[in-house]
Amino acid sequence: MNRPTSLFSLPARVLHWLMAAMIVAMLFIGVGMVASVSARHAWLVQIHKPLGIAILVLAVVRLAVRLRRPPPPLPADLPAWQKLAAHASHWLLYALMIAMPLIGWAMLSAGGYPVMLGASLRLPSIVAASPVVFALLRHLHTWLAMLLFFTFVAHLAAALHHGLIRRDGVLSGMVGGRASR
Ligand code: HEM
Ligand code: HEM
Repeated sequence: MNRPTSLFSLPARVLHWLMAAMIVAMLFIGVGMVASVSARHAWLVQIHKPLGIAILVLAVVRLAVRLRRPPPPLPADLPAWQKLAAHASHWLLYALMIAMPLIGWAMLSAGGYPVMLGASLRLPSIVAASPVVFALLRHLHTWLAMLLFFTFVAHLAAALHHGLIRRDGVLSGMVGGRASR
C-alpha cells in the first residue's frame, strides 16, 4: 500500500501533466518533422513552433508557481544520492523546458526565418541573422532534445520505482487523490 502523501499544489499538478503531454508530443513531432518531407513536414512545423512557444510561457508560469509553493518533501528514508538525483534532474528539466523553446526561436531568428504563431502573428527576431550561429543552434537544439528525452526516461523510471516498488507516496503526490507523505 502507498503510504499517505502530501500533494503538490493543484496548479503544480495541472501544469505538470499538461506540460508532460505537450513536451513528449514535441519530442515526437520534432523527430517526425525531420524525418518527413513536403506537406507533412510543413504541417508538423506549423504545430511545433506555437506548441514550443506555449511551453516556454507555461514553463515561466510554472517556475513562478514552484517558487511560491515549494513541493512536498521527499521521504526521509530516501538515500541521500537519490534525493540529490531527484533535485538535480528536476532543475535540469526546468532548464530544458525553458532552453529548448528559446533555442528553437533563436535558431530560426539566426537563420533569417520568420517565427509565425498561426497565420498572422509573427514573433520578433531574438538573434541577428548569421549562418554560423544558425548551424550551432541547430545542433544544440538536437543535442538538448536528446538530453531532454533521456532525462525524461530516467524521470519516468524513478516515478515508477516510487509508485510500484517503494510505494512511498511520491507518485501519488503528483497524481493527486487523498493522502500525504
Ligand atoms: C520544448 C520545446 C521543444 C522541443 C522538445 C523540441 C524538439 C525538437 C526535436 C526533437 C527536433 C528534431 C531534432 C533533430 O532530429 O534534429 C526539433 C527540430 C526543430 N525544432 Fe524544435 N523543439 C522545441 C521547441 C521549438 C521551438 C519553440 C521552435 C521554433 C520556434 C522549434 C523549431 C524547430 C525547428 C525549425 C526544427 C528543425 C526542423 C527541420 O529541420 O525540419 N523548436 N525540435
Ligand atoms: C508520464 C510521465 C511522468 C510521470 C509519471 C511523472 C511523475 C512525476 C512525479 C511523481 C513527480 C514528483 C517527484 C517528487 O515528489 O519529487 C514529478 C515531478 C516533476 N516532473 Fe514529472 N512525470 C512525468 C513526466 C514529466 C515530463 C515529460 C516532464 C518535463 C519534461 C516532467 C517534469 C517534472 C518536474 C520538473 C518535476 C519537479 C516538480 C517540482 O518540484 O516543481 N515530468 N514527476
